[in-house]
Amino acid sequence: MPFVYENYVESAAYIRRLMGERRPEVLLILGSGLGYLAEQVQDPVVIPYGEIPHFAVSTVSDHAGRFVIGTLGGRCVMVMQGRVHVYEGYSAEQTAYPVRVARLLGVHSLLVTNACGAINTSYAVGDIVLITDHIRLFDPDPLIGPNLSEFGPRCCDMTYAYTPSYREAARRVAAQAGITLREGVYFYFTGPQFETPAEIRAARLLGGDVAGMSTVPEVIVASHCGMKVLGFSLVTNMGAGVLEQKLDGAEVVATAEAAGDRFSALVLGCLPLLDGEDK
Ligand code: HPA
Repeated sequence: MPFVYENYVESAAYIRRLMGERRPEVLLILGSGLGYLAEQVQDPVVIPYGEIPHFAVSTVSDHAGRFVIGTLGGRCVMVMQGRVHVYEGYSAEQTAYPVRVARLLGVHSLLVTNACGAINTSYAVGDIVLITDHIRLFDPDPLIGPNLSEFGPRCCDMTYAYTPSYREAARRVAAQAGITLREGVYFYFTGPQFETPAEIRAARLLGGDVAGMSTVPEVIVASHCGMKVLGFSLVTNMGAGVLEQKLDGAEVVATAEAAGDRFSALVLGCLPLLDGEDK
């Protein structure tokens, strides 16, 4: 059953009661192995997804499944420590549900992070990639179904889904911190299995630089409701078939954790610059 506007309003009302004087401006979604940034939130209110009306709960063991609302990088943020994925059996709309709830709470920007496999053979494990665009050709779209016009129009524009001025800000922050930042297109696969080598080759031909199983439903919904977006992917492995070896899910989490300091520095440096404007 598709959600109706009132569902989102109820979820937002539940969170609003608990968040006190905090007025979050940025929704920060932390991907696989990147959840530790939530521990740095000051004056936090922690809300497990399972308590919130209409929320889906993550079944993936390394995804904690809670909001942490407080101050990070000088900005009031709503951190999602863990997210749900389409591969867990949820619809794309359910997967992106928290984004609209955040919007109703006044959040103007989404900073989304994920682990990915590199399609682009000039990338290396451990690289951080600034997402410039995405490709979702075959997998479920979160906006299918009745349009909720309270959030946005039936056919929304995706030309600047990854906000140009936020990308520019990220380049400056990376340069100042001495962090090498790749730039590329995120190719969305639902998973849960990793891609086949043929799928990775096809995605490369189509213009993809990295492959991943998240982020795209959330970015589509964020664009629909007028939010500004910044996205980073951490390369935890080369895409299937790029190297003569099998992929390993444990390696994904270990590599993400090992890149923690660089990734945190980048996210913390960008947060103060996400002001809701595209200048
Ligand atoms: N493919 C899809 N998603 C991923 C990968 C991958 O190779 N690595 C981490 N997340």
